[in-house]
Amino acid sequence: MTDLSGFPVLELKHITKRFPGVIANDDVSLSLQRGEVLALLGENGAGKSTLISILYGLYRPDEGQMLLAGQEVRVTSPAHALRLGIGLVPQHPMLVLRHTVAENLALGAGSAFFPARGMRGKIAELSSCYGLSVNPDARVADLSPGEKQRVEILRSLLRGVKVLILDEPTSVLTPQEVEGLFRVMRELRADGKSLIFISHKLEEVLSITDRVTVLRRGKVVGHAATAGATRESLAEMMVGKSVSFERKRGAARSQGKPAPGKPAPGRGVWSTAWGGIVSAGEDRRPPSHRLWPVCPQQPWHPGTERRLVHPESRRGAGRGGRGGQRSD
Ligand SMILES: Nc1ncnc2c1ncn2[C@@H]1O[C@H](COP(=O)(O)OP(=O)(O)O)[C@@H](O)[C@H]1O
Ligand SMILES: [Mg+2]
Repeated sequence: MTDLSGFPVLELKHITKRFPGVIANDDVSLSLQRGEVLALLGENGAGKSTLISILYGLYRPDEGQMLLAGQEVRVTSPAHALRLGIGLVPQHPMLVLRHTVAENLALGAGSAFFPARGMRGKIAELSSCYGLSVNPDARVADLSPGEKQRVEILRSLLRGVKVLILDEPTSVLTPQEVEGLFRVMRELRADGKSLIFISHKLEEVLSITDRVTVLRRGKVVGHAATAGATRESLAEMMVGKSVSFERKRGAARSQGKPAPGKPAPGRGVWSTAWGGIVSAGEDRRPPSHRLWPVCPQQPWHPGTERRLVHPESRRGAGRGGRGGQRSD
């Protein structure tokens, strides 16, 4: 789904980034549509982190263009990225451990003090919209990795982002937390947000994404619709040779195949450590077809909270009481 403008939400054109002795991103082009989850898939060192660092204003590209809704932008800092509507959920949360959730989010909103009263209502509203359960009064030091990640997601949502980048988000989660994260991602997608999901776990990519862009040694080696992809096809793109997912050790031996970990000439063998979590009952919904978002899309600024309607007071209105639209 393209935006109302008819342009993709985000486009990268011919991005190149060099470090001494290595081309981390080599002529990378990709696009991201409204209401879709795009996987950025690649082995370690493929250039994923460098690319998202460019998107988030941490690095400047040596060459290439970045466009938001068809307009060229030069992102100069993470604060600038957030103002442009691009948020990042880092692999390792960057939160102040001794502060509460509300205090951390108030800091993220640029407030010099802690307006916890307004923040609590806003957190409740966003939590209800997207299924992000977080206690605003909990001390961050006491939170699980999954809860800390939800705080990072809330931080971006409070800023009204349209594009949310999740950097290896499942690496710190339990299987149940992965399922919880995927439910949140589906809600965000259904609400028209565009997500970039960084991973090297094929089962997760197949479970949660709509399209896949594969990087290898800094270059884009392929784009694929997830619905038509398989573990084998994606793995082959990632490593550049066919990959065996043979599980039956005995069967493999009896057929004269090499044991796991011993690739036959010209073939790779998939490390079981990369297997990831298989999601029962895959969600193959197409990208969002809602006519307009139901959750608040505007950035939150301290002091504006009185203009927002708490979801509790909208029970029965609209879609099963999910609300949060502005009252004016
Ligand atoms: N700050 C840096 N300085 C020098 N080389 C870097 C830097 N960041 C990344 N690289 C190199 O760029 C390549 C791509 O790295 P990276 O983007 O981290 O890959 P990925 O996130 O896919 O593992 C690697 O060869 C890495 O060593
Ligand atoms: Mg990385």
